[in-house]
Amino acid sequence: MDREELRRRLEFYRDLGMGGLYVASGTGHGEAAVAPPEAVKRAPKPEAAAKPGAIPESQPAPAVLPMALPPLEPAGDTLPAILTDIGECTRCRLHQGRHKLVFGSGNEAAKLVFVGEGPGADEDEQGLPFVGRAGQLLTQMIDNTARKEGIPISRPDVYICNVVKCRPPENRTPLPDEMEICGQFLARQLAAIRPKAICALGSTAAKALLNTKDGVTKLRGKWHKWREIPLMVTYHPSYLLRPYNQEAKKEAWEDLKKVLHYVYD
Ligand code: SF4
Ligand code: URA
Repeated sequence: MDREELRRRLEFYRDLGMGGLYVASGTGHGEAAVAPPEAVKRAPKPEAAAKPGAIPESQPAPAVLPMALPPLEPAGDTLPAILTDIGECTRCRLHQGRHKLVFGSGNEAAKLVFVGEGPGADEDEQGLPFVGRAGQLLTQMIDNTARKEGIPISRPDVYICNVVKCRPPENRTPLPDEMEICGQFLARQLAAIRPKAICALGSTAAKALLNTKDGVTKLRGKWHKWREIPLMVTYHPSYLLRPYNQEAKKEAWEDLKKVLHYVYD
């Protein structure tokens, strides 16, 4: 692997939110011969180089790749291929408590993708994302906002998935290593669908996709980018279900209106 290829790979892993890659010596792990993903090839170079933490050209490239790197996105990747690669996944500890893996659902050619945190009890039981109470609220938010705004879409027109595909015990927040490991599949899903926009629901999705520590209050309502795809952050529907967060509900409707008009006008 030449230095340019290595640099692109490291940029790719940083885009996935994988901070602090370490270098193992002399193991030769992670040397799978895969072409650089289209998305990385197309990434605007000057912008990437200007990012804090970007890998400068002048810095000597590490001799050996970190161990156990996830596979890069294969060219021409598809959702069924990603699902096949996940298989009966045991790549992180979350597999231990799951009943069903929750890959995602909806339109595989969606112009809009919603990303949540991880399956809850209902989702774990049914193998589908956002089917519990938070899911019902999300469905209402999508369907009612679209109807009121005269946009002829409903939930089945979008695609919905999560940062982690298996339910965390007691619905705890996914841990950084779990997000990092499962995040490779989320990145592949987004790259395969190539939606016009992404809507990150809550801080876990925002952290995973934007590589930021900022909270939803700060990030919401504004356009960000995941690679070159516009990304809106808004509140997670579970947060909106709490009776003391009714003010946030109005803001979430505003955010959703913006997203729907941008994508479907
Ligand atoms: Fe695999 Fe993701 Fe499930 Fe972890 S959460 S076991 S990485 S599918
Ligand atoms: N909350 C999430 O983040 N995802 C789901 O699929 C359900 C609830």
